[in-house]
Amino acid sequence: MTSAQIQRSAPGKVILVGEHAVVYGQPAIAVPVTQVRATATLQAAPPGSGLSIVASDLNRSFSLRAAPEDEPLAAAARLTLAHVTSPEPDAVATVHSTVPIASGLGSGAAVSTALARALAAFLGHALDPAAINALVFEVEKIHHGTPSGIDNTVISYEQPVYFVRGRPIERLAVSTPFTLLVGDTGIPSPTKSAVEDVRRAWEDDPAHYDALFDQIGDIVDDARRAIEIGDVEELGMLMTENHALLIEMGVSSPQLDELVDAAQFSGALGAKLSGAGRGGNMITLVEEDLAEDTAQVLWEAGAKGVIRTKVARTG
Ligand code: PMV
Repeated sequence: MTSAQIQRSAPGKVILVGEHAVVYGQPAIAVPVTQVRATATLQAAPPGSGLSIVASDLNRSFSLRAAPEDEPLAAAARLTLAHVTSPEPDAVATVHSTVPIASGLGSGAAVSTALARALAAFLGHALDPAAINALVFEVEKIHHGTPSGIDNTVISYEQPVYFVRGRPIERLAVSTPFTLLVGDTGIPSPTKSAVEDVRRAWEDDPAHYDALFDQIGDIVDDARRAIEIGDVEELGMLMTENHALLIEMGVSSPQLDELVDAAQFSGALGAKLSGAGRGGNMITLVEEDLAEDTAQVLWEAGAKGVIRTKVARTG
């Protein structure tokens, strides 16, 4: 059974603490960013036309039949069809996204999630978050090589998560909602190359990198406690400590450090890069009434975009 037109969406995300170390088995915390979203719309097409995917924001447009195996959106569609055991429908899937690409906000996982949800719904199936999560993880492997799985987890569940690679998802009890600003350096940073560089550095000096990963793991556990008891000052300090360790790991950049420093000077509770680093976004934890001031300071320090988001447990 198919419906005429179906639309589904998925949010962006940021990693609050724990990126990179999470690839090596340490915990990390990530939260959805609902101010940016990917949307997929399925529209019935004439019989025999098959499935076309039109993603103009991503400069990608193709028919599923002609798409190579490693085309991520095609892979998301094929995995979804296999999951619901359906042949390819005659339809056009239009994918739009306001999630900036290659900037640590989970653009790849968001578009895959939106497409999988919309395609399944078009075919009369509702995929639960666990099914979407497993499916989008397979697509993430095409994007990133060895993803930890944190992006697909936080985006498919649309909840703050405490994540450990290979373990069942743990939702976070956010006792006091808190405000984050996400500042964009405007420099694209593909996750894959940053992750590969960290791997090479770890292989060259495992003792040093294992120690860094362990320290980050401790920060993440402390941050979890701070979130659960509503101690935002403590959470801010932990984020800033995490940034120092990411600098030591070699994944920051002058532009990220400049935005982090600017946020600190403006009176933010804490700040750090978020995601793979090198470019992309930084995040800063702010008191709600100072958010506008810090946002202004980030723009003045060269941010190419500033998103304000509130983290709370939803549902
Ligand atoms: O996709 P990004 O930029 O949010 O980076 C993902 C986070 C890493 O820990 C660097 C990689 C991973 O797979 O967890």
